Amino acid sequence: MALRIGDTAPNFTIATTNGEINFHDWAKGKWVFFFSHPADFTPVCTTEMGKTAKLAPEFEARNCMPIGLSTDTVEEHLGWIADVNETQNTSLTFPIIADADKKIAALYDMIHPSESNTATVRSVFIMDPEMKVRLTMTYPMAVGRNFDEILRVLDALQTGDKHGIATPADWQPGNKVIIPPSVNNADASAKFPQGFDEIKPYLRFVQV
Ligand code: BEZ
Repeated sequence: MALRIGDTAPNFTIATTNGEINFHDWAKGKWVFFFSHPADFTPVCTTEMGKTAKLAPEFEARNCMPIGLSTDTVEEHLGWIADVNETQNTSLTFPIIADADKKIAALYDMIHPSESNTATVRSVFIMDPEMKVRLTMTYPMAVGRNFDEILRVLDALQTGDKHGIATPADWQPGNKVIIPPSVNNADASAKFPQGFDEIKPYLRFVQV
């Protein structure tokens, strides 16, 4: 069965471009951006890897570690990383999993047979430091991901965890957030002494 939000991310030990890792040990105390791509030496994937490498300081600022995966080998990954660095003008340091026998792809339901029986689609999982799945997202092979959205979701999840709030459509850091309906007005007043705007009893905004 596909992984769901709130599930514990399955653990595994596997070869990567940065050596063998045990996933849970590697991720200890960190948020994780775990993403699959269809294949090495392909154009869309090359731009995605370059973008992720360039965003290293942004992931670091969010206590989050990226890790990629495809069904290629470590040797293929390493050869391709050289191309990524050359063509995308970056220095890729995060690990890429070599899942040549497709074990992790099966564990995380990353192979969608109507797209390909052998290559992974563009799956995204965000895990929190307790290794709980907090976001799942799947893009088709021919569509490169929006990495600003991945950072935005990390910001929204971390702001939500810190303040016990939800975020509205298209929220960006610094925008007002939403007081969940489970918090009544008396509790909201105590929790948010700065005050809040009540548009409807179920629609309340606060600046945190
Ligand atoms: C790409 O990364 O360019 C790609 C990979 C598989 C299918 C389509 C595009």
